[in-house]
Amino acid sequence: MNSINLPSDLHTNLLMMFRWLHFVGGITWLGLLYFFNLVNVPFMKGLDAGTKGKVLPSLMSRALWWFRWASVLTVLMGLAYWGEVIGSDARNGGGSAGVVFGSFFAIWTVTWVLMYACVIPGKGPLDNGWVLAVIYAVLVAAASFLFLRINNHEWESNQLLAIGIGGGMGWMMMLNVWGVIWRIQKRIIQWTADNAANGTPMPEKAKAMARQAFLMSRANFVLSFPLLFLMGAASHYPMFGR
Ligand code: HEM
Repeated sequence: MNSINLPSDLHTNLLMMFRWLHFVGGITWLGLLYFFNLVNVPFMKGLDAGTKGKVLPSLMSRALWWFRWASVLTVLMGLAYWGEVIGSDARNGGGSAGVVFGSFFAIWTVTWVLMYACVIPGKGPLDNGWVLAVIYAVLVAAASFLFLRINNHEWESNQLLAIGIGGGMGWMMMLNVWGVIWRIQKRIIQWTADNAANGTPMPEKAKAMARQAFLMSRANFVLSFPLLFLMGAASHYPMFGR
């Protein structure tokens, strides 16, 4: 007969809790992201203005509440777990955890700023999703290469490196959620509700803002696939030769 033997030391339980909350947050976040991209965008297009005014504010405020807080839970729990991985790799190999963390936040935050800068003009080739996809692919490849280049002292494990890249995508996705998608959507929700209640016309800039939020949401949708590959590869697919 198999027996259940729950580990009793605090450290193992704490790590398991980080991991579990990380999955719960990640599923909630990406589940809603996939709902927005696969169902909600085409669905909203088919609604007339009156129905949209009723449906959009209450549906989107609820969905976006879970969406943005799930992104925070996922990233915080992922960082907590990753911190443990980095700490033990650095201790065993006599390396510096600060370089890993520092390079992670610097590289991926700058990459996100560049990604965001590309959608600001909102016209010409930079309004074309395919052009943006190519630019973003080049930016993410360059950022990944730089992260691997800086953290190349033999003591960094496959787990550390895979999360350093996949987690970097997650970090940028969270910046998109809070810095672009939510910042824009909360205003659009308000304008749509005012429009439905009092007939206040939607401001001129609403269309361009909605397009920006859409492009960043689409970028998050695409980034989620390599991200999940790298999350899964961390402990199960030694792709960085360690
Ligand atoms: C959309 C965002 C994210 C999702 C959906 C996600 C999802 C996942 C999944 C499914 C796993 C399980 C992999 C496995 O057990 O094989 C995982 C593991 C992990 N994730 Fe994430 N993750 C995200 C973002 C992040 C971020 C931002 C970090 C930290 C920088 C991070 C750090 C980790 C760590 C340390 C593990 C454990 C890896 C291991 O077991 O070797 N994740 N993640």
